[in-house]
Amino acid sequence: MPDRTFFTTAIDYTNAAPHIGHAYEKVLTDVLARFERLCRRPVYFLTGVDQHGQKVQQSAEKEGLSPLEFAEQCTAKFLALWSTLGVEFDGWAATTHPLHKQAVQRILQRLFEDGQLYKQGHRGFYSVRQEQFLTDKERNEAGEFGPEWGQVVELEEENYYFRLSAHKDWLLSFIDTHEKFVLPAFRRLELRNAVERLSGDLCISRPKKRLSWGIELPFDPEFVTYVWFDALINYISFAGYLADPGSGLPEFRSLWPAKAHVIGKDILIPAHGVYWPIMLHAIGFSDDEIPTLLVHGWWNISGAKMSKSLGNAVDPVVLAERYGVSALRYYLMADISTGRDADFSEERLRMRFNDELANNVGNLLNRSLNMAHRYRQGILRAATTTDADLLALSEGEAPRAVAAYTQAMEHYQIDASLEAAVGLARTCNQLIESSAPWKLAKDPDQAARLDAVLYHLAEALRLVAILLSPVLPEAALGILAQLNVAAPPHLADAVWGGLPDGHLLGTPVPLFPRLEAPPAAAD
Ligand code: ME8
Ligand code: MG
Repeated sequence: MPDRTFFTTAIDYTNAAPHIGHAYEKVLTDVLARFERLCRRPVYFLTGVDQHGQKVQQSAEKEGLSPLEFAEQCTAKFLALWSTLGVEFDGWAATTHPLHKQAVQRILQRLFEDGQLYKQGHRGFYSVRQEQFLTDKERNEAGEFGPEWGQVVELEEENYYFRLSAHKDWLLSFIDTHEKFVLPAFRRLELRNAVERLSGDLCISRPKKRLSWGIELPFDPEFVTYVWFDALINYISFAGYLADPGSGLPEFRSLWPAKAHVIGKDILIPAHGVYWPIMLHAIGFSDDEIPTLLVHGWWNISGAKMSKSLGNAVDPVVLAERYGVSALRYYLMADISTGRDADFSEERLRMRFNDELANNVGNLLNRSLNMAHRYRQGILRAATTTDADLLALSEGEAPRAVAAYTQAMEHYQIDASLEAAVGLARTCNQLIESSAPWKLAKDPDQAARLDAVLYHLAEALRLVAILLSPVLPEAALGILAQLNVAAPPHLADAVWGGLPDGHLLGTPVPLFPRLEAPPAAAD
């Protein structure tokens, strides 16, 4: 068994700027990794960029840059965004890294020697302008290749192929016997149907004269490997697979198999659901060594696909500047159910932040601390209480929220975990209304009751901060600092009674200022 929980995400194409879908996937995985840390379980989070290929080569040419310069420029945008968004990864998979190339070549060489790769000619229609072979999918209604393809010629080209179809029966039985291979379950069924229809092998090369920006085949320098044998292998190459001792990469057995590859729905079939398990199987990985695919849905714009050509792509950099990182992380985690699609809306981002954080958690923190300072100089008394409403909180609601939260997190349901945390804060705001500390403060007979109420509010806030910490690491530390709790969040501390008798609370500082629509809101 690996000694660390290993999460990876899809590596992002470097030929364009990061959009809100990329940001979602990284924040989601960052939250999963932070939850492991919250549980004090060792974790390794790998993400990166997919830097080779035709599009990078073409875009670089257009800008008068070398492909590497262009790829590095784009990579810098992704790295800057992850730093802004507090995405804390342990390994960075940039596919131009020499150790990655080495692993890809070692794997290709083994497969070649093992007879899993073969060379074959292919005759077909080729678009000179787009530099690609066309299939019937590219024909228009009239059955022709439209003018967008420019000159189309019939051409014969040799390439290398991977014996995908030889492993089809294995993959079907693997899918049938491994319920957790793909999450959520409906995606596994979708994949199974696709595998049933699978035919043919996988072309894995391009002649260098057509595509030079790639990893050379070790057994034939006239070719580079095309897309998947480069991109997918990042998950093992950067985990240390086939690396020489002293490479600086992790010890492969300490990480593998990954607990989850976090990917979007568009790259399940065929890349991650068909090519990848078959590649691993062909390399010699056992069934137990095939990772789980956690397949998330997409953020759409008013029900439509976000795309560069529609010009509706949402820029996470702009949103982070406009609303702050906490608001953006919170929205991306709260307003989508893992595995399903969601519609992106700035108005909903503001609304959810204002309702759930500003008016609820932030308000609770502010009122609780202010009252504790006003009535008790900020000092808490931790006496036992028999008041039914307070016991309902400490013995009912709070442990239930922690349990529901933990259960949701273990099942990657971040939205449900947030509901548990935010719901606990809501209960406390209701407790303020129902117990009316300002009335208790006027009645000396109610002194013990007032102490108990103030203690319960602070203690519940401590739990809320711990639970929110994977999604809102900075804000959670802010809440804990105001509560004057120095210990870093730890899930094991999310049990009632952590604040000691005589604990002095810190000074209240507004933490979640309400968000307003920008002057000329685009939505
Ligand atoms: O697919 N909502 O890169 P990519 C949510 N390099 N997620 C989205 C999304 C959206 N609107 N749009 C894209 C690639 N994604 C390859 C992967 S992995 C070996 C190689 C997700 O930049 C998408 O599903 O097109 C994928 O998981 C990730 O962003 C990178 O997409
Ligand atoms: Mg894509």
